[in-house]
Amino acid sequence: MCEEASLSAIAEAVGTPLHVYSRGELRARVRALDAAFAAYPHDLHYAIKANATLAVVREMRAEGAHADANSGGEIDVALRAGFRPDQIVFTGVGKTHEELVRAITLGLKAINAESPGEMERIDAIARAHGTCARVAVRVNPDVDAGSHPHISTGSRANKFGMTPAQAHAMVTSMATRDHLKVVGLHVHVGSQITSADPLRQGAAAIADLAMTLATEGVHLEHLDVGGGLGIPYQPDQAVLSADEYAAAVLPVVRPTGLRLILEPGRWITAPAGVLLTRVVDLKTQEEGRVFVIVDAGMTDLLRPALYGAWHGIEAVEPRDGAHIACDVVGPVCETSDTLGKERELPPVEVGDLLAVRDTGAYGAIMASNYNRRPMAAEVMVDGAGWRVVRRRQTVDDMLQWDV
Ligand code: LLP
Repeated sequence: MCEEASLSAIAEAVGTPLHVYSRGELRARVRALDAAFAAYPHDLHYAIKANATLAVVREMRAEGAHADANSGGEIDVALRAGFRPDQIVFTGVGKTHEELVRAITLGLKAINAESPGEMERIDAIARAHGTCARVAVRVNPDVDAGSHPHISTGSRANKFGMTPAQAHAMVTSMATRDHLKVVGLHVHVGSQITSADPLRQGAAAIADLAMTLATEGVHLEHLDVGGGLGIPYQPDQAVLSADEYAAAVLPVVRPTGLRLILEPGRWITAPAGVLLTRVVDLKTQEEGRVFVIVDAGMTDLLRPALYGAWHGIEAVEPRDGAHIACDVVGPVCETSDTLGKERELPPVEVGDLLAVRDTGAYGAIMASNYNRRPMAAEVMVDGAGWRVVRRRQTVDDMLQWDV
């Protein structure tokens, strides 16, 4: 079940592969994170990159969250979901001229600038448009996030942000420009972080700099500590609770008196989604292990192939009998197209429905048309009811851009 709706019935009606989200869970998780930070002035800017399906983003807005966009496309998603420009922060290590013009003329809450060169470009565009751009400076604190190297962003070796010294010099030299208003500092040290230290250190780097700037007469509006809070993909995985996250960050930020911005993505949406997939074939390997071949693959959920990520896989209607040792694999012609390696499942038959857990973040949004596979449909469950919020792509959809 998802809430009070039968997953089997939904899969029967809509087909597989299929992403299913719980509206109640999405909303409860925004509320829980918001409550954890209730003791301090803050805004949750939902990281649209985690799940940009309009129906999901609209739920975030309905719960009072704001938005974090990482591209021109995500700015448009935010606007169409109903966010005002002054509720959107814009991050991104390679913003194009067109994206910057859009962001500046819209008057976003903050453009998180990643380099001195980008600050200069923002200044020039704002001057040309006779406006003043609101900028936050992204600091790279040289912190090890302790997560997968592909999603760690806060060490000096990574492409993101400026050193604290560079950021300090930039803010000081830009503080008097007419077309640039430095409103904050930004940091994001990585994603799927499961301990307090990296998050605390990231926040401390910008809090310290903000205090120094204040003594020099430069007064900011906010500190943006990014996203990164991890979730337990494995049932026994140790993670931080929302309260422990707040307890790590708030004491560091509080002395600045500045408003706190958070950019959570995964923590809110990942556990609110499952990927439903049907068994299409069974094949016994030499050592007796079984390949359970399913109709979802790396084109529907890239995380296992890209990061070696572990997602729980369960039979929706488990059969009785001895469990089997298996690899759950997709249909794509890549050996990395494996959703779960060395798993135990109840006996399965062709046609059975499996649920891959915690796919509400970085699932559907990272889909591709590789092997010319149409992208999966998406369903939002609400109590006993549900509706398709993104229809399944067709072959015509896929080919409509071919000239
Ligand atoms: N803010 C910034 C500037 C970010 O770069 C990110 C994620 C977030 C916020 C949201 O982080 P979260 O709260 O979701 O950890 N595809 C990868 C995750 C990439 C995260 C990229 N940046 C995965 O599937 O694990």
